[in-house]
Amino acid sequence: MNVVSPPSANASLPASPIAASTIVHRPTIIATHDLRKVYRTGFWLKAAPPSLKQCSLEIYKGETFGLLGPNGAGKTTLLKLLLGIIRPTAGSATLMGQPAGDRSVKARIGYLPENPYFYDYLTGREFLSYTAGLFGITGKAQKQRINELLDLVQLDRQSANKKQMRRYSKGMLQRVGMAQALINDPEIVFLDEPMSGLDPTGRFQVREIILSLKEQGKTLFFNSHVLSDVEMICDRIAILDQGELVCMGSIHKLLGNPTYYRVKGNGGSLDILDQWLSNITFEGGYWQGVLYENPFEFMATARLMNAHIAKLEVAKPTLEEFFMDQIRLRREDADRAATEQTERKRSKKKRLFGRLSAQ
Ligand SMILES: Nc1ncnc2c1ncn2[C@@H]1O[C@H](COP(=O)(O)OP(=O)(O)O)[C@@H](O)[C@H]1O
Ligand SMILES: [Mg+2]
Repeated sequence: MNVVSPPSANASLPASPIAASTIVHRPTIIATHDLRKVYRTGFWLKAAPPSLKQCSLEIYKGETFGLLGPNGAGKTTLLKLLLGIIRPTAGSATLMGQPAGDRSVKARIGYLPENPYFYDYLTGREFLSYTAGLFGITGKAQKQRINELLDLVQLDRQSANKKQMRRYSKGMLQRVGMAQALINDPEIVFLDEPMSGLDPTGRFQVREIILSLKEQGKTLFFNSHVLSDVEMICDRIAILDQGELVCMGSIHKLLGNPTYYRVKGNGGSLDILDQWLSNITFEGGYWQGVLYENPFEFMATARLMNAHIAKLEVAKPTLEEFFMDQIRLRREDADRAATEQTERKRSKKKRLFGRLSAQ
């Protein structure tokens, strides 16, 4: 039997097609430099721990950017700083080359807040007509724009025209929210937790709307903790934890190229399998193992030794595993740094006390 031996461990795998499509040359549309926010609360305006620390990032025109992080990480704070709703304690942010909060910028962006407030006694159309008026969209153009948006967010005309918003479901309210965020045909759309509180159908529809905006070339910046949605629609992500940017990049780059594979099969020769696979186990008539070599060459060998491959999968972490790992590592680092600082302070005090008592 002419069986191929495993190649050397550093044999190169075919280049990932995803790496080539990574957005690198588009112009920057949002940039922050050492952005910091410390809220001051209570009667004495006491400074709380920083909600955002030295955040520097760049977002490119036309990309869909997802900001992930646990509750209280500072996602909404960063978004509000970009929108100019709150002012930074330090650092700067620019949108389309202008400072965040500039009036000319506000006219070219759209925003869906995390917990939007709607006027209970207005119908969806009345509310959209009001928001269109704020942007100077009136008359025929307004009617046409609202109809287009109702179609895009799939809110039926009957409900939009006749029903007051207090009678809307959460999904319908989210659609009105989406429509108002798009009323001025914005270049950048900010969405704060657009999927939260929606059922699977609602989430699917919001995802579809986001994808259609992406097709139109809009830049989308959204906060989320629903990792599966993020994985499906984002070009790049950043993870924020306790006000600090933990990492940023395309999901494919962050999760890395596969370095090994899990293989399951039956038949073939154990001696040869032993040359290719590590951690071989047997169960239910199948063998399983871990392959560190080129999978195509292994498949060819399997064919030659009459083995049947039932499964060959990339052993790559999911976004969820990656996210949990990143948060854990950052917190371990932060704890270590805090312990070292306490130790340093304690030994300094000890030295000082020793010197005083010696005098
Ligand atoms: N207006 C505010 N005043 C004081 N503290 C705030 C305010 N808004 C947010 N924070 C604090 O800032 C931190 C980050 O909050 P937030 O940006 O809302 O996080 P996320 O959106 O990631 O859940 C939290 O500790 C929160 O309590
Ligand atoms: Mg938030």
